[in-house]
Amino acid sequence: MTGATAKRPRTVAVIGATGAVGREALDRLHSRAFPVGELRAIASQRSAGGTLRFAGGQVTVQALDDRTIQGVDVAILAADAATSREWAPRLVAAGAVVVDNSSAFRMDPKVPLVVPEINGDELVCRPSLVANPNCTTIISLMAAAPLHRAFGLRRITACSYQAVSGAGLPAMQELEGQAKQWATGQPVEAKVFRRPTLFNVFPHDSPLLPDGSNEEETKLVNESRRILGLNELRVSVTCVRVPVRRAHAVALHLEFERPVEPDAARQVLAKADGVRLVDERAGAPADPLMAAEGDAVLVSRVRRDHGATEGHGLALWTVGDQLLKGAALNAIQIAERLITAG
Ligand SMILES: NC(=O)c1ccc[n+]([C@@H]2O[C@H](COP(=O)([O-])OP(=O)(O)OC[C@H]3O[C@@H](n4cnc5c(N)ncnc54)[C@H](OP(=O)(O)O)[C@@H]3O)[C@@H](O)[C@H]2O)c1
Repeated sequence: MTGATAKRPRTVAVIGATGAVGREALDRLHSRAFPVGELRAIASQRSAGGTLRFAGGQVTVQALDDRTIQGVDVAILAADAATSREWAPRLVAAGAVVVDNSSAFRMDPKVPLVVPEINGDELVCRPSLVANPNCTTIISLMAAAPLHRAFGLRRITACSYQAVSGAGLPAMQELEGQAKQWATGQPVEAKVFRRPTLFNVFPHDSPLLPDGSNEEETKLVNESRRILGLNELRVSVTCVRVPVRRAHAVALHLEFERPVEPDAARQVLAKADGVRLVDERAGAPADPLMAAEGDAVLVSRVRRDHGATEGHGLALWTVGDQLLKGAALNAIQIAERLITAG
């Protein structure tokens, strides 16, 4: 496919456009100059007729149905997994290429699970359905994958500090509401999460599995293995929700096959696409406020991990906006490759 074909205007649908990820997708489609001919902002029947901002103007939200998916060239699915399971095959049958943000297809061997900077070559065959990985997985692997290529990853230990917006717009609004309640002396109410997020931290709210892990932790284990192509990779994870609006942080402890020095790791990370080293020795380490609304995954505190086999371990701190690189931005990067691949 030629560059001219890549620039041909497409009919693009964002499904879940009213949500936290969907709104970011609208923003990045415009700011990255994705070749949008017609934009369809689609959500549930509840939101139909409302308006959203796009490209300096307003678009009217349409309900997801058989009529609104006709003629779609590119679909960014940003609704729940059940909606994706039902509508991704219908979109593909109607001729669209589909990037799905939900967990519905991530472990389906027929559907590539892609972070373009890591395994973007899986897009060359121009699949019609691609799964966007879990946000904590993307933010962790953006740092771990280039180090793996250089030193051979043997083990990941990850502890996450996850923003409330990882649970969608209502969760972000709940934290903001709790801050207002507290400031005005009212009782702090929790509805989206079981516990207040304001002035609190708790283990990730996803369902518990029989082995005692929660689903978020299991996603990081399984998806990391799949994306890196390391079926036997040892991965230890604890996922935690923190009272942050947007941008997840992950404390990573990585053990490698080959010896690794922090300076050598910094050199690798400094050259890695989509990563920005924030050297705490020249100021403050990266934090969620620095990463919020930005495209890059920030990495700080690269140091020796004394708990690993001597000389083979690194500890580091990685932070990224999970609504962007962890979701909408990664999805649009995939879509950009899909319209130029082949
Ligand atoms: N938030 C993150 O950081 C993040 C990161 C990675 C992946 N994801 C995934 O991205 C997806 C969207 O997450 P989010 O955080 O943006 O959630 P959200 O803020 O709750 O938004 C959900 C969106 O889905 C729409 N929707 C719900 N049911 C629908 C239906 N039956 N038909 C059509 N649209 C429907 C909603 O429309 P209405 O407004 O009409 O209800 C809304 O636009 C989820 O699968 C999530 O797991 C999220």
